[in-house]
Amino acid sequence: MNSTRSVAIDGPSGAGKSTIARAVSKMLGFIYVDTGALYRAIGLYALTCGADTKNPAQVVPLLKRIDVSLRFVKDEQRVILNGEDVSQRIRENAVSMAASNVSAIPEVRAFLFDLQRSIAAANNVIMDGRDIGTVVLPNADVKIFLTATPEDRAMRRCDELAAKGQTIDYETILKEIKERDYNDSHRDIAPLKKAGDAVVVDTTGYLLEDSIAEISALIKSRLGIH
Ligand code: DC
Repeated sequence: MNSTRSVAIDGPSGAGKSTIARAVSKMLGFIYVDTGALYRAIGLYALTCGADTKNPAQVVPLLKRIDVSLRFVKDEQRVILNGEDVSQRIRENAVSMAASNVSAIPEVRAFLFDLQRSIAAANNVIMDGRDIGTVVLPNADVKIFLTATPEDRAMRRCDELAAKGQTIDYETILKEIKERDYNDSHRDIAPLKKAGDAVVVDTTGYLLEDSIAEISALIKSRLGIH
């Protein structure tokens, strides 16, 4: 019998999934699993090989040369790609679109499926992504669909990049966010969509602390934790 608990948080990029999920995981003592990082690792590898990340014929043959895993160091997820910790490199802006492109390839999704399932089977998790509540963990104890307007998400992304010393203008970011939203929700396989039994939380205009408080209260009440 599976005695672990799982929380699925899906939604478009920049809605605050990772920041909120990380904070709530700490409160609950759950492991936070950011599944986008896995697609980013594949995207990064494809980019470094000079592959066209939209072209399955170029990406799929690379999979047999990829060993990707997640390591949890003091509850923080590290992404290991062929023995190298790429947790920082996968956050570069160019990797975002590459990840979105490779994630539309069925073989890439199949390649990452077991890893995601096995982590959830062995640990209490809050797992975030695009298809966690619909495909990866359809029996998750709690499902949340976290969203915000593209404009709000672009603004936050600009602030995040600026904090890291990267300056990219708001209009460029907004255009990229809309393009990724389109890509992620219109692909044939496991598109971004709300699971029928997910609770929608729209964080537009919310302070981060308020989103964290609302979502942690929701999760605790669903899991019967006080
Ligand atoms: O969450 P993120 O922005 O780091 O994800 C990068 C890309 O990976 C995103 O554009 C879509 C894809 N992805 C996915 O298809 N399924 C997931 N469960 C997580 C991410």
